[in-house]
This record gives sequence, C-alpha cells and structure tokens, in this order.
Amino acid sequence: MTRRTEPEPVLRIDELGVRLAADHAARPLLDGVSLHVRPGETVGLVGESGSGKSVACRSVLGLLPGGARVSGQVRVGGHDVLGMDRTQLIALRTRQVAMVFQDPRASVNPLRRIGDFLTEGLRAAGTPAPAATARAEELLTAVGIRDPRGALRRHPHEFSGGMLQRVVIAAALAAEPALLVADEPTTALDVTTQAEIIAILTRLRVERGTGLLFVTHDLELASAVCDRVYVMYAGRIVEARGTDELFDRPRHPYTAGLLACTPRIEAGAPAPRPIPGRPVSLAEAPPGCAFAARCAHALPRCREETPALAPYGDGLAACHRADEGITW
Ligand SMILES: Nc1ncnc2c1ncn2[C@@H]1O[C@H](COP(=O)(O)OP(=O)(O)O)[C@@H](O)[C@H]1O
Ligand SMILES: [Mg+2]
Repeated sequence: MTRRTEPEPVLRIDELGVRLAADHAARPLLDGVSLHVRPGETVGLVGESGSGKSVACRSVLGLLPGGARVSGQVRVGGHDVLGMDRTQLIALRTRQVAMVFQDPRASVNPLRRIGDFLTEGLRAAGTPAPAATARAEELLTAVGIRDPRGALRRHPHEFSGGMLQRVVIAAALAAEPALLVADEPTTALDVTTQAEIIAILTRLRVERGTGLLFVTHDLELASAVCDRVYVMYAGRIVEARGTDELFDRPRHPYTAGLLACTPRIEAGAPAPRPIPGRPVSLAEAPPGCAFAARCAHALPRCREETPALAPYGDGLAACHRADEGITW
C-alpha cells in the first residue's frame, strides 16, 4: 500500500539482473538490484569501481550492453523501460530522463557550436528558433554561465571541463526531465568546480522537483548531496538507508570500511584506513558474501550463504552480522 505522504517514485528498479553471454559462461554484471527515486529526492549510488553503478544507471535509459540477458523491471514514471521499442526509448531519453556523465567532452560534438547542442532538442520538439535560443540562454544562466549569448557561439574546446559540464547539465535540463541521472558528474573536476556543480544540481532539484540519481565512488560527497544512499558491492546492493543514519550507524562492514577510508578534515579525526584487498566484480565473486574475503568480521557462514538484503534500523543491509553493531 502506498502512503499518501509519499509521492510515487519517478524511478523504480525492481530485482534487476543483467548477464552477458560471453563465450560459454554467461557473465553476470548485476544481481537483484532494486532502488527507487521519488520526485525532488536526491538518491546516491555509491561503491568502488566495477561494482556496477554505471550499468545500473544506463539501464534507466535502456542502454544495456548488446546481447545482455536482463531480468527484473525498470520503470520511469510507471512505464516499463526494458519493454520499450526504439521510438519509445527516444521519447524517454528526450523528455523524461536526462543523463550527465563523468566526462562532459564525451557528451558533445567538438565540431558544433554550444548553441546548436543546446537548441537541437528544443527545435526537434517544435520550438521556433528564436524561442529556443532564448531558452538556451536562460538555461546557461541557470547553471552559472555569465555571458550566455557569447557562450552559444563558442565551440566545446573553448570551455574548461567545469564550464562544459555546466553546459551539459543545461542541455540535460532543457526538456525539464522528471529524472536526472548523474554518473560521477564531478569526478573529473577540481574540488572548487565540483562544489559549484553540486550546488547547481541541488538548487535545480529544489526549484524544479527533479528526482536525482547521483552516482559516485565518494561517500563523503554523497553525504553532502543525498537524502538516501544505496551502497553497491560486486553487482549487488549491500546497504540502503537515509544519509544521516548511514553515517552514524552503518550496518554493513563494507559501508563502515568505506567510511573509515574517507579522509576527514576535523581536528583529531582518525587517519583514513584503506579496506584491505581489492574490489571484485560480480563475475569474479565467490559464493556467499562477495565482501567476505576483505571483511575482518567474516564467519564461515559468510563464505557459504549469500546474505539477503533485509531491514535493519531504518534501512536495509545484506550482512549476516548486521544486527551486531559492527564497526570497522
Ligand atoms: N559493456 C560491457 N561489456 C562487458 N562488461 C561490462 C560492460 N559494462 C560494464 N561491464 C562490467 O560490469 C562491471 C560493472 O561495471 P560498471 O557498472 O562500469 O562499474 P562502476 O560504474 O561501478 O565502476 C565491471 O566488471 C565491468 O567490467
Ligand atoms: Mg562507472
């Protein structure tokens, strides 16, 4: 039953499984991934490199590797993305969901002016050229570009990475999408620019009620931006909870480990301690809990039985010892 106070999620992923048919063995990339984003909510997807964050994000746009076998459901605004045909997917990507990637230069054509990049979607949707230009200037102003008219005439190489990422965000917002998926949008940027981009995303979310799925490997950054966080390890969600509770009392040793290896600036804060070993992908994961090999708290049971994602506190954790108050 839906509670009246909770708006319907703009994004709902249920039990998403993705497998690649590589050679003879089908290579799994995601297993039982479920998450949701409500309108106006910022939701983090956090985990080390290779955990499946990008594959999960790309599923939202129906962009999965060719030949992949997919199970479960991805719904945007209640519509089943995995069952969409080409025309429906184009409509989804131009109207309902926008995506911002790590490298803004990968999203733009280097030979075309910023003005063409920003107005093409609007013009394709039937907006007359002068109105499209006015709207493009408005969007550039909204993302903090001071001379929007001049910017429209320039080419991508005339912008710094941070400025170009603003342009890409402006383009993403042109169609007023209900959902913005940002996959490590600030990873390639310096810290000051990163903070400015985050401020823009936060403001746009508040002003426009856009749902934001924010992907990062940086838990500290997620805490500054997100209402709730999902933690991924080896193609599975291992913990999900509100940001404050996640920081105060993580229930999965992996989350606790990520927190312990995050550098802190407060005086007297403990020195960061890296998690031993290296992350594994789902394809390499042994039976049982994929994190067991790196976990100081693993029991024999952890290497045999994959823990289910179950309620602990106000969220979910997939750990046989989640109720023991384990710290890292
Ligand atoms: N198109 C693809 N073909 C084969 N393997 C892929 C493809 N995309 C991702 N993978 C694999 O899936 C796993 C998850 O990747 P990814 O989602 O990119 O991780 P993350 O974004 O968390 O760093 C990795 O092991 C990666 O090698
Ligand atoms: Mg990625």
